[in-house]
Amino acid sequence: GIEVRASQFPGFLYALQSLEQLLPAAVYGTEPAPDAAWEVPCVKIADAPRFAYRGMHLDVARHFFSVDEVKRYIDVMAIHKLNTLHWHLTDDQGWRIEIKKYPVLTDIAAWRPYPDWEGWNFGGKRYCRRDDPAADGGYYTQDEIREVVEYARALHIEVIPEIEMPGHSEEVLAVFPELSCSGKPYLNSDFCIGNEQTFEFLENVLSEVIGLFPSEYIHIGGDEASKQGWRTCPKCAARMRKEGLKDVDELQSYMIRRIETFLNAKGRRLLGWDEILEGGVSPTATVMSWRGSKGGIAAAKAGNHVIMAPNVHCYLDYYQTKTPTKEPMAIGGYVPMRKVYELDPYDQLTPGERAYILGVQGNLWTEYIATFPHLKHMLLPRLAAIAEVGWSYDRKDF
Ligand code: ACM
Repeated sequence: GIEVRASQFPGFLYALQSLEQLLPAAVYGTEPAPDAAWEVPCVKIADAPRFAYRGMHLDVARHFFSVDEVKRYIDVMAIHKLNTLHWHLTDDQGWRIEIKKYPVLTDIAAWRPYPDWEGWNFGGKRYCRRDDPAADGGYYTQDEIREVVEYARALHIEVIPEIEMPGHSEEVLAVFPELSCSGKPYLNSDFCIGNEQTFEFLENVLSEVIGLFPSEYIHIGGDEASKQGWRTCPKCAARMRKEGLKDVDELQSYMIRRIETFLNAKGRRLLGWDEILEGGVSPTATVMSWRGSKGGIAAAKAGNHVIMAPNVHCYLDYYQTKTPTKEPMAIGGYVPMRKVYELDPYDQLTPGERAYILGVQGNLWTEYIATFPHLKHMLLPRLAAIAEVGWSYDRKDF
C-alpha cells in the first residue's frame, strides 16, 4: 500500500508530486495504457523544504505571455515544489496590468509598433495605440489577474506582483510625462520624486494592485534608476532641501520608505531589488539580491530579510552553454545548470545571519525571449536546480 501523511495541505500536494515522480518515466505525466505496470519502489520518504520561499520570476513586460502560458509556467513550478511566482508586470517596454483609474496605461503603454524587444530598443522606443495595425503586446484584465492568482493558489503558489519604481518606468512616463523630471515623454526613465503627483499615481496604482493580489509582499522594483534627471530637477532639489537629503541615493531611499509606509498601512510588506539598500534601507524592507549575493549578505548582516537571486547563479535568461552560437540569442552571461546547482544561499553568513535568508529565486527576463517554446528552453532544466537549492538540506553533488 501507499500512505501519504502531511502536517498541512501543501505537504500533501508535494507528497503527491514525489509519488508521481517515483513512477516509471514511461508513465510519468501520461495516462498509462490499461495493462501498463505502475510500479513504485518500496521506500519511506520523510521530507520538508529547507527554505520557506522558493520562487521563480517571470518578466511579461519585455514580451507578453498569455494567461494560458502563465498557467503552464505555474504548472511547471508546482511540479518542482516552488511556491512563489514573482510576476514582473511593468517595465520600460510595457505595462501589463489593467488599472481602472488609468486606462491609458493599457490603451497605449502596453503596445509597441515592433514585434520584438530589439525592434523597440533600437527603433526609437515608441508606444502606439492598441488599435494601431502594427501594435504588438498585451495586458491582463483584472479578471484575468484574479484567475491566475486563484489558479496558482490551488497549487500552493503565491503570486507576488512587481510594480517598478522609481526607474524602469519609461512606459508610464510616455503617457504621463508630467510625472518625469523633464515633463516631456521619451526623455526620462525615472519618476520625479519631487513631484507629489508621482506619489498620488503610485498609491492609486498600488491600491488596485493590493485589491487583486492577497500576497503579504508587494515588490516595488527599485533597481537601476539612472538618477540623472533628479540631479538637475528643481522639484527634486526642493524635496531634498525640505527632507534634509544629502544626495540622490537618499532621495531614492526617501521614496522607497514613503511607499513602504503606504504598503504597511494597508497590511502589506515591501520587497525590492538590492538597490533599495542605497541611501539607507528601512529595517523592515525585504531585499532581493540580484547583483551577486553581496547585497543580500549586507542586508542579512543588517537584520533585513533577504531572498537570494544572484545573477551569477539564478539568471535563467543567461546562456547555458559555452557555445552561444549554437543557442538562441540571449542577453549574455553564462549560467549552466551546474552553476545554478552550486548556489548556497547561506554562503558567508553566520548561523544568526542565516535566519534572515527567506529563500531562493530564479529570474527569467524576456528581452530576448519572444515565444513560449523559447521560454521553456531557457527555463528547463535549470528550474530543477533552483528547486533543488530551495528544497534540499544537503549540499548536492551535481
Ligand atoms: C535586474 O536584473 N535589473 C533586477
